[in-house]
Amino acid sequence: MKFEEIKDRAAKAKQDGQEIIVVLGLGFVGTAVVANLARTLTPGGKRMFFCVGLDRDDAAGREKVGRLDVGRSPTYANDPSLETVISAAAKEPRNAVGTTDPRVIGLADVVISCINLDLVREPGQTDVLDCPTAGYAAAMRMVGEHMQPGTLVTIESTLPLGCSDRVLYPALCEGQKKRGVDVVKDPPMLAYCYERVMPGPDYLDSVNNFWRAFAGIDQRSSERAEAFLAKYVNTKQFPLWRHKTIRAAEMGKLLENSYRATNIAFIEEWAKLAERVGVDLFDVVRSIRLRKGTHDNMMLPGLGVGGYCLTKDALLAAFGAQKLLGVEAELPFSRRAILTNEKMPLRAVESVEKHFKGALRGKRAALIGVTYRPGVADTRSSPSEIVAREFVKRGATVVAYDPLVELWEEFPEIPMAKDCASALDQADIVVVCLPDAHYKNYLPELVKQKLARGAIVVDAWSLITDAIGKHCAEHGIELVVYGRGDVPKSTPAPATAAARG
Ligand SMILES: NC(=O)c1ccc[n+]([C@@H]2O[C@H](COP(=O)([O-])OP(=O)(O)OC[C@H]3O[C@@H](n4cnc5c(N)ncnc54)[C@H](O)[C@@H]3O)[C@@H](O)[C@H]2O)c1
Repeated sequence: MKFEEIKDRAAKAKQDGQEIIVVLGLGFVGTAVVANLARTLTPGGKRMFFCVGLDRDDAAGREKVGRLDVGRSPTYANDPSLETVISAAAKEPRNAVGTTDPRVIGLADVVISCINLDLVREPGQTDVLDCPTAGYAAAMRMVGEHMQPGTLVTIESTLPLGCSDRVLYPALCEGQKKRGVDVVKDPPMLAYCYERVMPGPDYLDSVNNFWRAFAGIDQRSSERAEAFLAKYVNTKQFPLWRHKTIRAAEMGKLLENSYRATNIAFIEEWAKLAERVGVDLFDVVRSIRLRKGTHDNMMLPGLGVGGYCLTKDALLAAFGAQKLLGVEAELPFSRRAILTNEKMPLRAVESVEKHFKGALRGKRAALIGVTYRPGVADTRSSPSEIVAREFVKRGATVVAYDPLVELWEEFPEIPMAKDCASALDQADIVVVCLPDAHYKNYLPELVKQKLARGAIVVDAWSLITDAIGKHCAEHGIELVVYGRGDVPKSTPAPATAAARG
């Protein structure tokens, strides 16, 4: 929407008692934030906020703001309430609009930054890291140049340690100075309110019906941020957590994700041991999980870790400590966890290579599940991508199926089958990459129907039932299950797999 129209609408919204919120970056996080604010009502049932989604003036950014303007979600998430909320917010009198014009920042009571900040590194190592913060600093300078004094800026992106006070706040101040503001007398307000949004069916609720933690750069910013969050977070059920410093809040987000990544990596060594000593680790972990309170979040084996966050966040701590704060951060567990998680999908490839004695050229591989989590449409950094790339490198033909993905954006050359059965047609190799409820009950039977002697199934989630495992063993189909050493061995396979179709 054009700036002049947004200005008029914002003025009317203001008269109506609404706060004007500019959300910077309409990706997975920004979209959830806009939708949440747009659906927030005052106790009297009126809309509390007028939201402006601001993205970059490039093709992708223009598409996102254009979608918001016509009442469609800028980002896909399979939460049915998302489209309903965004479409309602686009109906008159609308309270969510999109733009690429940064002048809207001058209309804002609060600016919420949800832009991405990527970690750059070569896979297989965690020593040479880069996180180019200059782009984020430029965005904060731009916010500072446009915003009125008295505006609160909150950051929801995940940041390297030290980034708020060493990089972003100085940039915000620079912008304000350029605007002629005396930042000593009137310092800008900045708070870090990290985001825990979970893509999936509870996408929207994971923003406001969930625990939120935050801290300001100073007391005034903390108080303002607390008052703002309390307007839309369900604080009765999920009281806010105010950290002592903004750096503590940065660490909170990084530690939380590193803990999760380490937890996932930890089980991998036990999965490998279980496979070698004939034990079913799924059964073992499920029994241990009954010890509520201390052991109930022990992870099950799996193909690996994906998504945008768990694959980088521990390293943002290491990078920030070293480059922004001048402190060496060894973090051996956390670094090791990232490397372990990265290698996990390669075990599937190794099993297949061993089975075919390295001759994968011309073999047909079916990957079942290509996102990083069941019920989530996000394919960024998914372990399936690692498997697919390795198969393609070795000359195999790869086809994939995922109920939530029609086009695999990171790997568009891979055809997406319309259903599980057609993915398995003529397959020599099947990798069960995700335990999705859509197919987990019928996939084992399809394996029985579709695969022929000589084929191999790598099941990272123990979806293949014992009965089908027995069938595979009796019919010369090799079954490898991550974390299971009790799977019956198949009878020796002839050199070539002849799929039954
Ligand atoms: N994806 C998640 O589930 C999740 C959860 C919690 C936290 N986070 C963190 O939140 C941040 C954003 O993640 P995301 O998944 O939404 O990323 P994303 O890549 O989906 O979205 C980022 C958006 O910001 C826009 N953008 C970038 N620079 C901009 C600029 N200068 N001005 C305006 N717009 C700009 C991009 O065009 C894009 O639309 C990251 O730091 C991430 O680690 C993500």
